[in-house]
Amino acid sequence: LTLIVAIDSLGAEEAKGLTRSLCTRVAGFKVGLPFLLANGVQFLKELHGACPEKLWVADLKLADIGHVMKLVASSVASSVDAVIAHGFVGVRGALDELKEYLNSLDKKLIVVVSMSHPGAEEVYDKALPNIFDVVVKLKPWGVVAPATRPAIIQETRRSFGQDVKILSPGIGAQGARPGEALCAGADYEIVGRLITRAENPVASAEEVLREQREMLRRCKGWR
Ligand code: XMP
Repeated sequence: LTLIVAIDSLGAEEAKGLTRSLCTRVAGFKVGLPFLLANGVQFLKELHGACPEKLWVADLKLADIGHVMKLVASSVASSVDAVIAHGFVGVRGALDELKEYLNSLDKKLIVVVSMSHPGAEEVYDKALPNIFDVVVKLKPWGVVAPATRPAIIQETRRSFGQDVKILSPGIGAQGARPGEALCAGADYEIVGRLITRAENPVASAEEVLREQREMLRRCKGWR
């Protein structure tokens, strides 16, 4: 399974319905600050409880000293399997402490290596070699790389082989097509509005899965 649905733009009831409907069909779900601020951590626990086998990712874009990132992670840790943090804060006194804390809870760390929006070229991409150093030192479970710039996904895969999972947002609303990031080497595509803003989100998710399979068939000869 290769699809992670970002449920931020859904209301509570919609999120409950969609995550239940898609529970057996997708790899997981991602929640960010808009969803958590609107619905609370307790509600996330409820959603997770209804579909506990999937990969639940807290995308709080953590970028702070280790102590604070651990505090934030501790408030969602029991309801998720993985936490996303920015790579640019560096390892010592920051990501090392977060990683150790998540390890102790058997949770995964995902580090952003670049972002999908155009402004990522202004700063993030220039720091890519430094962020890659962070990934080498830290050995996180996964990294986020942009579906909108497949060359960065390819470079990430070339640099780390299969040692790291690559999660790619930027599909649909931000321009990439389903399957493009997978063809460039990503393990999962993160899709939000293309699904959540569709008239029929379940049907839209099915269509994304179909397009992914079709693209993979063409680029990798998968059946
Ligand atoms: P859409 O609606 O654009 O939502 O499909 C995408 C989801 O993914 C998040 N996002 C990112 N997260 N690096 C990240 O760590 C990125 O480059 C990036 N681009 C989008 C966004 O928060 C939304 O939940």
